Order: sequence, then C-alpha cells, then structure tokens
Amino acid sequence: MAEEKSPLEQEHLSTQLGTEWVIKFYRLLKGAMLYDRKNVLIDHLIQECLQVVNDIIQSEGNLFLKIVRDNFFFNNIRMIIKADKYPLFKAFWHEMRKRRIGEVEVLEEMSREDLREFIYLISGLEEGNESNYLYLNQRLENRNIESVRVGKLESFKDEEIYIDSEDQKKYSKEIYFKSIALIKEVIDSIQQQKMLNIRKAKRLMQNAVNTILQDDSTLLGLANIKHYDEYTFNHSVNVAIYAMVLGHRIGIPKKHLSHLGMAGLFHDIGKTKIPKDILNKTEKLTPEEWAMMRYHPVMGTELIMKMKEWGELSTRMMNGAFEHHLRYDLTGYPRLTRKRKVSLFGRIITLADFYDALVRPRVYNRFPYVSEKILGIMLERSGKDFDPVLVKVFINMIGVFPLGTLVLLNTNEIGIVTQIHEETELIDRPKVCLIYYKDGEYRKGDVVDLRERDEESKEFKRSVVKTLDPNEYHINIAEFAL
Ligand SMILES: [Fe+2]
Ligand SMILES: [Fe+2]
Repeated sequence: MAEEKSPLEQEHLSTQLGTEWVIKFYRLLKGAMLYDRKNVLIDHLIQECLQVVNDIIQSEGNLFLKIVRDNFFFNNIRMIIKADKYPLFKAFWHEMRKRRIGEVEVLEEMSREDLREFIYLISGLEEGNESNYLYLNQRLENRNIESVRVGKLESFKDEEIYIDSEDQKKYSKEIYFKSIALIKEVIDSIQQQKMLNIRKAKRLMQNAVNTILQDDSTLLGLANIKHYDEYTFNHSVNVAIYAMVLGHRIGIPKKHLSHLGMAGLFHDIGKTKIPKDILNKTEKLTPEEWAMMRYHPVMGTELIMKMKEWGELSTRMMNGAFEHHLRYDLTGYPRLTRKRKVSLFGRIITLADFYDALVRPRVYNRFPYVSEKILGIMLERSGKDFDPVLVKVFINMIGVFPLGTLVLLNTNEIGIVTQIHEETELIDRPKVCLIYYKDGEYRKGDVVDLRERDEESKEFKRSVVKTLDPNEYHINIAEFAL
C-alpha cells in the first residue's frame, strides 16, 4: 500500500510531475505546429513525451491537468510554478487558451500512435472555438483512442481584463492611489456630513480583488512600502489590501473578499470623530485622551449604523470597525459585558491592522519595527491576541523579508526585495534588486536571485545578513521597488 503523503509532499510531487509533463507536452505541441507527422524530430518528441506520460500513469494511475484562469492543477492539486519555468508555462497557457482547451486527461498508458494522433488533432484545432473539446473527443472516439480525453477551458466573466505583468503593475498602482484619494474624499464627506460615495468604494475594492486573484504581489508590495507620509489614508488602504490577500489565501469567496476590503478600508472610520490634535499628538497622551482614542471602534460602529448608504454591507462594516481592537481572547477594547466570538472579518482585520500599524508607526519619533520582529510578536501572541490559524497564513503571506525590504547581503551589497518565491523552503531567498551608490546618489543595479548557487562550491552566492532601515540610509524605497 502506498504511504500517506502530507499535503506539502503532495503539492511538491504534483508540481514536479506536472512540470515534467507540461515541458514535454508543450515541446511536442510546438513541434506538431511546425512539422508534419512523418518528421524525425516529431518521432523524437513523441518518444520523450510518451516516456513521461506512461511513467506518470504507472506511478499515479492517471494524469489530469486542469487550467483555471492562470493556475495549473495537476491531479487536482495546484502546482507551484517555479520562476524559471514561468515563461514556458505562460507560452503553454497561451496555446491551450487559444484552443479553448482547459483539461487534458490521460486514463491509461498511451501508444505512440495514439499520442501522435492526439497531438496533431489538438494542434490543428480552430482558434477560439468553444466546442473544440467536443470535436476533439469525438474524433478520438472515431479513431478508437480511449486513452485520452480533453475538457473545455472554463471562462470567467472578468477574464477580459487579464493583463500582462507590466500592465498589471500599472493597474495595481492605479487602484492603490485611487483608493487613497477615495479615503480622503470619504473622510471629508464625513467631516462635512455629506453623502458618501459608497458605490465608488465598492467598485474599487472589486477591482482590487480581481487583481489579487491574478497576482497579489504588486498590491502587497505597495502596502509593504513604508514611505508614504499620510498615515491615515495609507493605513486604511494597506489594511484593506492585507485583509483581502489574507482572505483570498484562506479561500474566502470573491464576492465576500470585496466586502472584506470595504470593512478594512473603513475600520478606523471612528477616528474621524477624534480631534486632530489628539490624533497627531507626538507626546504621551493623557488618560482622558487615551480613553477618547480607545473609543474609536464604538464611534465607528455608530457612524456606520447611522449611514444608510452601506446597504447589505453594514453588518460586515460594523464587524471591522467594532472588533479590530477586541483581540481573539476579548482582552482588548471595547470591553464587552457579554462574551462572544470575534467574527472572521474582525479577526482578519485585527491582524492586518496590527501589522501595518507597527511596520509604519503613526508617530514619527517612534521606532518602526522591522517586519521579522512584528511577525515574531504575532507568533508570540497567537491564540491570545490573534487567531492562531490566521497568524500562520499571514506570516507566510508576508514572508521573512517582505517585498520592498531593504537588505544587507553577505557580499556587502545592499538591495531591495522585489520578488518572493512561493515555496516555503525558499522564503528567505527572494529576488533582490541591488542598489549602489554613485555620484552622490543611489542607483538601481542588477536583480539577483538569492537561490543562485556558485557552480564550483555549490554554496549560495548571496544570502541576507540583516534588514536595514531605509530612513537611516536615506533611500526612498518606492523609487526602487515600483
Ligand atoms: Fe483602530
Ligand atoms: Fe487601524
């Protein structure tokens, strides 16, 4: 009997087998698009692909690849695509997408001739025809080929906005800065007791969710960069982003994710009722002032209750505003007379709020914590202040060195983290954009991958020694990381 594998081992295995298969299959497909079926090169490519297919059938029993949006599932487990394989997967994805084929299933060992038929059928499919999969399966049946079947590529309503990574970055930035502008507008409206433009906020959060579903790195990166000066506005947007990305990672459905974003965006809405001089005070607050500050969750809830514009959202919004300082074990504020559980939205926003508040302190003279330290505090208070399950997911999401972190390397170079690898074991080996000092200013150097090893010694070429405070070095992170 086969030994039980842990989910991580499963994921690893599926990624490995799936990657091998995709590489060989894609090569064969390209070959079939270029050469006719009698070409010797095709014979060779078929042989290579066949080897992998039949090995997988022997060990796993079947082979099933499914594409959902730009995610690949191999035998029903999501594959983690390695950075160096990404271009190949993207090219493969394009070919499959053109043909509207989203599933390939091999049910038994294939013969050379079956595979040859199959690859020429698939390569010859008409572009964009939604019934290609029916046609293809029919043809396979007619030829008595029972070893393989295909399925349709499911399309999603919002997929037309699928954008390439550069556009994606631009688009994410637009959302980020529009959200900041919107928060300013909302705060003004509240202070002048005008109607709120809730529709606009909802639309923005829906767009944010769409980009997070495709790639969360740019929005996360924007939230991680600690350079922006207008605390309140940025804080709200950052909390919304952290909350939505975290929500996405624990599987909250799309519709609710945008609600979570809204709740995050307005969690501190009660602070609009606190006089500015208390909010911005840099000296120690008096006990009365503290009491006022600690009252903001209640004031926020009252504000939300009073405003009709929230509609179906209002309960969720109140969760965010009321619960974000309650703490998991209810030892925070406001003090409750009757004990109850903090809602999921409340627990998520608590984490997002805590992280962002410590990483970018409101008051200038307070020392900002480095991210590792905050994650450490979170772990320590896991189960007391924070939901222990969410803490784990959050730490994974931020990574040991978050995007935008300034780091010192063992080569004495400094750089900024620009990409984090998804595999947990490589979390401390991100991609780093080197920075060097020349003619009186800092300049962008090469982007290096800390996974790279020296060819002779097999040791890692570069490793992070420690994180640095960009303020100390007068480096404007935003300039380099965006
Ligand atoms: Fe707060
Ligand atoms: Fe907050």
